[in-house]
This record gives sequence, structure tokens and C-alpha cells, in this order.
Amino acid sequence: MANKDSWFPGSVIYQIYPRSFYDTNNDGIGDLRGIIQKLGYLAGSENSLGVDAIWLSPFYLSPMIDFGYDVADHCAIDPVFGTMDDFDELIEKAHERNIKVILDFIPNHVSDQHKWFREARMSKNSKKRNWFVWRDLREDGAPPSNWLSVFGGSAWEFDATSKQYYLHTFLKQQPDLNWDNPEVRSAMKDIMKFWLNKGVDGFRVDSVCWLSKDEECRDDPINTDFDSRTHSSYDSLDHIYSRDGPKLYAYLSELASVLDQYKDKVIVVEANPNLNKDKGYYLSFYNNVEPHVMAPFNFAVLNMPWDARSVKHYVDTFQAGLRSEYNPIYVLSNHDKSRIVTRLGVSAARTAATLLLTLPGSPFLYYGDEIGMENAAVADDNALDPITGRETYAEAGRDPERTPMQWSNGVNAGFSAVKPWLPIGEKYLQSNVLLEEDDKSSMLNLYKQLISLRRSNEAIHHGRYEPFDAPDQDIFGFQRIVDDEVILVLLNFVGESRVVDIDGDILFSTHPTATTGVLAPNEAQIIKLRGV
Ligand code: GLC
Repeated sequence: MANKDSWFPGSVIYQIYPRSFYDTNNDGIGDLRGIIQKLGYLAGSENSLGVDAIWLSPFYLSPMIDFGYDVADHCAIDPVFGTMDDFDELIEKAHERNIKVILDFIPNHVSDQHKWFREARMSKNSKKRNWFVWRDLREDGAPPSNWLSVFGGSAWEFDATSKQYYLHTFLKQQPDLNWDNPEVRSAMKDIMKFWLNKGVDGFRVDSVCWLSKDEECRDDPINTDFDSRTHSSYDSLDHIYSRDGPKLYAYLSELASVLDQYKDKVIVVEANPNLNKDKGYYLSFYNNVEPHVMAPFNFAVLNMPWDARSVKHYVDTFQAGLRSEYNPIYVLSNHDKSRIVTRLGVSAARTAATLLLTLPGSPFLYYGDEIGMENAAVADDNALDPITGRETYAEAGRDPERTPMQWSNGVNAGFSAVKPWLPIGEKYLQSNVLLEEDDKSSMLNLYKQLISLRRSNEAIHHGRYEPFDAPDQDIFGFQRIVDDEVILVLLNFVGESRVVDIDGDILFSTHPTATTGVLAPNEAQIIKLRGV
């Protein structure tokens, strides 16, 4: 994967949630033309952010129960986002600016409005019946197994017409496809080819852990560590049968093989370790999927406490296990997670940006984090995310981190001329692109500096990773090395000053004035070491 001839290793990828990026047709919802108009903000102009690629969350035809993750036609654009001509233009204009385009690909399930499912549910004899997972009820009428939906409740929905249950790992409107059926796999590979032939550069593949499951649908055992204050109800079971089944890597290898017929395309998969226990989980995707065009997101740092010791221990260990050709994909936020500033505060969010943009591999940024957007307050009555209120540990659902991009201090933060589909974040007067472009100390300029340094400095861009043991456990330090150039990254995770005795030149600091190794509260420094 970390093949120097490929565009991907070292690249910075920017996730766009199309509904919330920029609205050009005044319906309060972002669209593909909005993305085209804002490409200059992202790359290819003098003052651009400077990212290498964009990942577009789904824009396919969908009833939008799960906001596009319920696909009704994988090869059609939902009219709310525009047309196929708009998409073709987007690819062309992005490529003119040297921006690669990665699409969301959702293989585990479709919308219940998809023609495959509508046909499947018509009768037990339907030709499409076996494209989904149907099972008889137990003798007492209960669902076929105790499997749970990630979004709460049973993963089985009773179908009154055929008197069988069908499986849905997510919403009941998102029936799981039966990946053990070769026709399904073939149809899904054809969809990838459709988009690859249009010139897309790769895919972010959704929820892959569920592609293979126990064919007997045996009950998952109880998770004895379950705590409803910190876990979702889904994690009350230990999912040894309902996910990560025996064929997972074989099926992913089939998807990876599709890329063989094309040049320099990539796949990033979304997979979360069962009960958040890594134990080599991420590494197994690199080791077991052939050809080596696939890398998993690494959510470990996102999911752990912001604590230098834990993060250092994790990253040092993970990096040590990676072969040099494996490209790590660290990520600190996305459309399913609370915003970075909301989780850590503004000051530590600057440290976090430094961490993400100096680690090896291909970091993914989430739109709006670069201007320090925070979760917006979405009143319960206005909540749109279907999982809102379902879990005591995350009642607010995912609307707060999906609110419109804050372009300016104008009407609706410059996102749309009309009332947007989700409210504008309360702090848009302080956090918006227009204002931050002119403020040297803004979050936006911090991201721009880091991205530009990453691109111009070979050690940060492609160098190898070496641990660094700082004298203080509140500092996470690591080195990036190429030939005789050693770059030391020092990250102060706490709100108190710390000193590291070091000789070198500061290439970057989160703070306006900085002295090598003397770290103000939450300061991060990038230092070129002397005399090595
Ligand atoms: C992934 C997506 C999430 C979606 C779910 C079901 O986790 O990131 O937004 O709801 O899959 O497709």
C-alpha cells in the first residue's frame, strides 16, 4: 500500500457530507454543484486548504431514512443532490485541480425500497429472495437468533406476507444483503466498476465487518463487561457470530481484485473491532486482504481518552506491527462522531490536528473541523437522525456533527439562502471560513500550515515512524525520519507547561511564539533535530 508511485500514501483526504457542504439551488440542502463551486477552497488555488482528495458521503438515490446510507439505486444520483451530469462535471473539475475523488460504497445493506428487496419480499420463491438473509421464526415465534441491531433492538424484522424474518444489522429499512450468495457479490462488484469507469479514484467502504456472518445464525453470547452507561445496547452481546465471519477477508479480497483492472485506485474500509478491542483487528485487514489495495480506518485514538500515555502506547505498538508497505489511516472524527473541538476543547483540538497531520499514512479530515466547528444544539423536536434518543450513552444522535459548513458570518453562515435542513452551529460568527482566512492564528490557518508542511517535508510526508520517549508522560513524542533528516513531534496533552530538553529548530508550533522543547499548555511543536 505505501507504494511511492501511488498518489495515496501520505495524502490528506477531506470528507464531505454533501447535504451540509454548500447549497446552490436554495432548498436548504447541499448539492453536487455546491461541491464543484467550493473546490477552490479545497485545493488548486493560491489560498486553498491543500488537501489531496475528497471522500463524498453517499449521494445515491435514497429514501434518506439513514441519510443516504440506505441506498435505493447505487448507480443513480438522488435528485436532492443533482444529476449524473453534475457528478461527471465534479469528477472532471476535481481532477483538473488534482483532487482525487473517493466515493462511499455501502455493500452490507440496501434500502427496503431498493428493487432487489422489493422483489425479494414478494414471495419465498422470488428470484431475489436469497439475495437477503431470511430465516424462519423459532418455535415460540421469537426471532431466529438473539442478534442485535447496531441501532438498537433485534436485528430481525418479521415479514407478515411470507411469515419469515429478515436480517437488518442497522435500521429495519436497511435489510442486509446475503454476501454468501455469489450473485450478490457479482452485482456489488459491477457497481464498483460502474463508478471506476466514470473515473473515481477509490472507495470508502461502509460497515464491512458484517459482510460475513455465521450461516447458522447462532446466538451471540452475553458480554459480561457490559455497562449501559458507557456502551450502546448493541454491545450487551459479544458478537462472535453476527459479524467478522469466516469469509470476511475472502469477500473483501474479491472487492480488492476489482481494482486490479484499473490503475492506482484505493479502498479504505470502515471496520470497528468487536467491543472496541483491537487485538490486531486492524492489522488483520492488511495481512489478509489480497491484492494489497485496501486499508482499514484506524479509530482507536478517536475512541480512547485524550491521554498521552494511552495514545502513545497505542500508536507506538500499532506502528511497530505495520510492515513498511502498509499505509495507516488515522482518523479523529467523521459524520458519526462528536466534533473534535466539542470533545477536546479548542486548545487540545489544535494539538489533535498536529497529531493527525504528522502521523504516517493518509489522514482523513472531516469537513468543518478545519475551522473548529463544534457540535450544534439540535432540539429534540427537530432531531432528524433516526437513532436520536435510542441510547442513553449518546442521546443526541448524530445531527449535531452534521450541521452546515460555516462559510461566512452572513445569512445561514453563507451555506444557503434559505433555512438549512439542520440548524447552523451557534458559534458560526467566530468559526467561519471568511473570518478565519484573514486571521493568522485561526484553526483554518493552523490546518493550512500543517498540510503544507506535510507536503513539503519528505520526512513527515513519507518518512518512517520511530517512537520517542519523552521524559514526561503527559507529552506524546514521536519521530518521522527520512535519510538523515529527523523530525520530532512533541504534543503536550495537558493544560500545564512541560519542558523537554532537545536541540533543534522549530518548523511549526500551535502557539504564536515558541521555544524548542518548552511546551506551553496544550502546545504542539514540530522540530527538525540538529546533530543527528
Ligand atoms: C456506517 C456509516 C453510518 C451509517 C451506518 C449504516 O457506520 O458511517 O453513518 O449509519 O454505516 O450504513
